[in-house]
Amino acid sequence: MSRAPFELALLNGSHDRSTFNSGSVQLDRYLREQVSQDVRRRVAACFVATTDGKRIAGYYTLASASLLLSQLPPGTGKKLPRYPTVPTIRMGRLAVDQDFTGQGLGGALLADALGRAAGSEIAAFAMMVNAKDEAAVAFYRHHGFIALPDSPLTLFLPLATVQGQAR
Ligand SMILES: CC(C)(COP(=O)(O)OP(=O)(O)OC[C@H]1O[C@@H](n2cnc3c(N)ncnc32)[C@H](O)[C@@H]1OP(=O)(O)O)[C@@H](O)C(=O)NCCC(=O)NCCS
Repeated sequence: MSRAPFELALLNGSHDRSTFNSGSVQLDRYLREQVSQDVRRRVAACFVATTDGKRIAGYYTLASASLLLSQLPPGTGKKLPRYPTVPTIRMGRLAVDQDFTGQGLGGALLADALGRAAGSEIAAFAMMVNAKDEAAVAFYRHHGFIALPDSPLTLFLPLATVQGQAR
């Protein structure tokens, strides 16, 4: 994967959220109208990639979450303690501006998110994502994510498999 010359940072007031256009109205509106409130309330952290410190080329959000042990595929669940829930980190949103797609930025943002999650001192078994459609499912499967048997738009990747890439 090629690494484009993007700067990654936590979203702050110097970033311009107004022109972001990923082709998904919901993901664009979330960045423009809701993310700051979610960050203030500590229900999401938002990381952005910029080319010049201002214009946002892509973003993702992370928050802690959990999965029911019973939601995992039997082979995965069997290896875990019998607690009802399994700790995870959810990448709630991931989007790249259409001017910057196809340059490796989506993959780089995903790798950055996985690195943060796997490198954290606070344990989580997996990263999980809720894909918005079949194309997003294909993107995550391409990167090794596994769909939940009863909820195919929810996918997970055990963080033990990315420990080597930790930041
Ligand atoms: C999906 C999205 C994040 C991909 O971003 P991108 O910058 O174009 O992706 P990249 O150029 O980094 O591609 C990384 C890899 O994923 C692959 N890929 C990209 N889109 C894919 C798809 N829909 N299905 C399968 N693989 C895909 C690329 O071929 C590339 O593979 P490689 O690393 O083996 O060469 C971007 O198109 C987007 O923001 N779409 C709208 C929002 C969205 O669907 N978000 C997903 C979360 S719900």
